[in-house]
Amino acid sequence: MPMEATIDIRITEADLAEALRTDVMTGLSGPRKWLPPKWFYDARGSKLFEAITDLPEYYPTRTERALLHACAQEIAVGASDATELIELGSGSSEKTGLLLRSFSAHGSLRSYVPLDVSESALRDAVGWINAEFPRIEVHGLVSDFTNGLDWLPRRGRRIVALLGGTLGNLVPAERAEFFGRLHNVLEPGEQLLLGVGLVTDPAVMVPAYDDAAGVTAEFNRNILHVLNNRLGANFEPSRFAHVAVWDPGNRWIEMRLEATADMTVTVADLDLMLEFAAGEQMRTEISAKFRLADFHAELAAAGLPAQRSWTDPAERFAVVLAGR
Ligand code: AVJ
Repeated sequence: MPMEATIDIRITEADLAEALRTDVMTGLSGPRKWLPPKWFYDARGSKLFEAITDLPEYYPTRTERALLHACAQEIAVGASDATELIELGSGSSEKTGLLLRSFSAHGSLRSYVPLDVSESALRDAVGWINAEFPRIEVHGLVSDFTNGLDWLPRRGRRIVALLGGTLGNLVPAERAEFFGRLHNVLEPGEQLLLGVGLVTDPAVMVPAYDDAAGVTAEFNRNILHVLNNRLGANFEPSRFAHVAVWDPGNRWIEMRLEATADMTVTVADLDLMLEFAAGEQMRTEISAKFRLADFHAELAAAGLPAQRSWTDPAERFAVVLAGR
């Protein structure tokens, strides 16, 4: 008999709607327009992201999967004695299966806490994990990964995972705040497992965010569909062009949507009227890439020093185990 699996909702539809209004108000009413990337992920956006992870140009997912495959056993056998795995932004939990498999064979793990803003993704994940790992207690939390830190349970020694390069969506100041909060939340001896993209050849990085089939372009434009559906906006997504550039100074990929003509757009629910000039660009995502030594220094400065790191032979991605 599998243990009972539970899901707690810590962020409601109303909270999400309010957060979206605030973000759209702040992001789109100034002279330099931008939107936070977390609004890509409605059901359609989540499907498009899943499709991105299968693209030949998008190396991060398969590279991280191979790294986790190689290091999971090592972590479970020798490098971690955690009894609880908490995964922030767990999505489908697909890659976490590798960790759970090793931990349940060798480790001390008793519970898995996936945390995600998407309740539907969480329900699917909790379902299959509970069926495949009947001896691990599964306790899902619906929340976003920054606010979610306030709700983390503590029933044993924890390891907190943030995989897939999601950390790259934060600008350095937000990252420092996030690490500061983690440092507060974790007890000495508890751990962190991070998956981050590394700085590599722009000829490799840029196509990963500007694929030949145009899936990423459609994913990028999906944020306009979300604003149309949720806030009664009247964007014409096809009149915005997908732009992906490598910013070597900031060491991040920046995705933008470029207006292809002068346009006026209204956001009915916010009583907002927006002017776009032809060629005007709106930032929709940053995806920061790291130099491993800098990343280690950043973790150390936050009081969360790296304990072990794994990289692929081409050094495009890293999985880093750090400790409090
Ligand atoms: C989910 C944030 C890790 O930055 O690579 C993929 C999102 N954006 N293609 C990334 C994304 C465009 C992805 N993360």
